[in-house]
Amino acid sequence: MTKETVIEVQKQFEEALRNARDPRSLEEVRNAFLGRKGKIAGLFSLMGEIPPDIRKSVGQMLNELKENLSGQLEKREAEVGSKKTAGEWVDYSLPGYVLHKGSRHPLTRAVDDMLSIFQRLGFDIAYGPEVETDWYNFESLNFPPDHPARDMQDTFYTEGGGVLRTHTSPVQTRYMSAHEPPVRIVAPGRVFRNEAISARSYCLFHQIEGLYVDKDITFSDLKGTIELFCRMYYGKDVKMKFRTSFFPFTEPSAEVDISCFLCGGKGCRVCKQSGWLEVMGCGMVDPNVLKAVNYDPEKYTGYAFGLGVERMLMMRLGINDIRILFENDVEFLRQF
Ligand code: PHE
Repeated sequence: MTKETVIEVQKQFEEALRNARDPRSLEEVRNAFLGRKGKIAGLFSLMGEIPPDIRKSVGQMLNELKENLSGQLEKREAEVGSKKTAGEWVDYSLPGYVLHKGSRHPLTRAVDDMLSIFQRLGFDIAYGPEVETDWYNFESLNFPPDHPARDMQDTFYTEGGGVLRTHTSPVQTRYMSAHEPPVRIVAPGRVFRNEAISARSYCLFHQIEGLYVDKDITFSDLKGTIELFCRMYYGKDVKMKFRTSFFPFTEPSAEVDISCFLCGGKGCRVCKQSGWLEVMGCGMVDPNVLKAVNYDPEKYTGYAFGLGVERMLMMRLGINDIRILFENDVEFLRQF
């Protein structure tokens, strides 16, 4: 080992140090030169072969080299930020992060709650497609050809001539076309309308359709079922009224209003100052609809209803703007 060896190691070290720009590579440099099996240790291990007369001075030279390298390394570590600097210090006694568990969307829950009530009342669950044919969405439901709901203005059509269903009522005729009476079903799903978006209307919303066709079904069966359902969903104190209405596929027809929970019936922007909110349409299945699915209207009668899930849920939760149910604002959703 000569002076040149020392100078050579020093050069290699300085070169490696220049190239080390992060704490990890600095650590590697430290191990390669100053570690237990590093270059300096290697040189010290050769001391035994050094002739005794110069051993002392060589030892001194190596010690100086070692000190020199450690000094440079420490300086560089301070610049780059080594593992030992405060920034990377971990306090293992800190409390952990609370992981938020996901939950079902309030609308999904509302649909499930409502379906389970209807199941307890003896209804089966049926589904239909969201892209419908004109036949099921309109024609089979006794809509005349010039009915305003068929207008491009109000309804979304697909390029292939399909209709984004405007209500869940097409599930009525789909189901009856495939099943013999008696039928007793509820059909949940999304429906689409080209509406001006506001606090009470959205272009997409959810409905649950109900249909019960058998011998001797009457309007009082309908009324009793709806009243019972509303009490089971809202509690026994809910106020409701049946208001006469018109739908092409039911005769007679009615709409069900419930007293506005948001203003206690005094009038607000959600109930349009009326104190009541319309939550569903219903009526006795029109004989023309029974004929369209080859049921004998002389033999069978039935009732149908279609309820607006968002409307009913808004009343239950005291939400005054339907849009919050579609925005996926995490602060809102975390409450459920
Ligand atoms: N389909 C109607 C609507 O969307 C609601 C309805 C369903 C009315 C069943 C009567 C019977 O407004």
